[in-house]
Amino acid sequence: MKSWVLVGMMGAGKSTVGRRLAELASRDFIDTDQLIVNRLGKSIERIFEQYGEQTFRDHETSIIQSLTPGPNIVSTGGGAIMRAENREALSKIGTTIYLRVSKEQLIERLKTSRKKRPLLKRDDWETAFQKIFDQRSEIYEKCDLIVDLDNLSLEDAADRLYKDLNNE
Ligand code: S3P
Repeated sequence: MKSWVLVGMMGAGKSTVGRRLAELASRDFIDTDQLIVNRLGKSIERIFEQYGEQTFRDHETSIIQSLTPGPNIVSTGGGAIMRAENREALSKIGTTIYLRVSKEQLIERLKTSRKKRPLLKRDDWETAFQKIFDQRSEIYEKCDLIVDLDNLSLEDAADRLYKDLNNE
């Protein structure tokens, strides 16, 4: 059985939507960031601080390459699809789904939650975020499926996604 792989920017709701979707579809939920945290026994924040982004990315790649297809939902970190080898590995295990949320809505959401995100721990975080968004959008849009989640609660987003996937 193919996995459903959730892709998208920080703040798009991949983990929350993924968990709810897993309940609706009776699938297992897997979060690649959580697998990295479990492997290293440290938070994402600490991993970035202690080892830097490159090491985090290397763990991210090896975790992604260890995934196998199945009745599950895989939530990826926002930057996971930037490496071609990761994109290839994720496409192999299932359907990649871009949770698309506008830059403006993401910024609003991140105002309350950005502090946990190492790439946004800076005074000019909005500018940094916009740059990352612009760099990644084109790649996100190459996913098998794009779901627009603007103006939807995360709960409604999961319901919408569930319907879309069942009609696929
Ligand atoms: C990152 C997103 C984070 C986490 C790390 C890097 C990114 O995950 O993997 O901080 O590069 O966008 P979320 O997308 O779940 O916030």
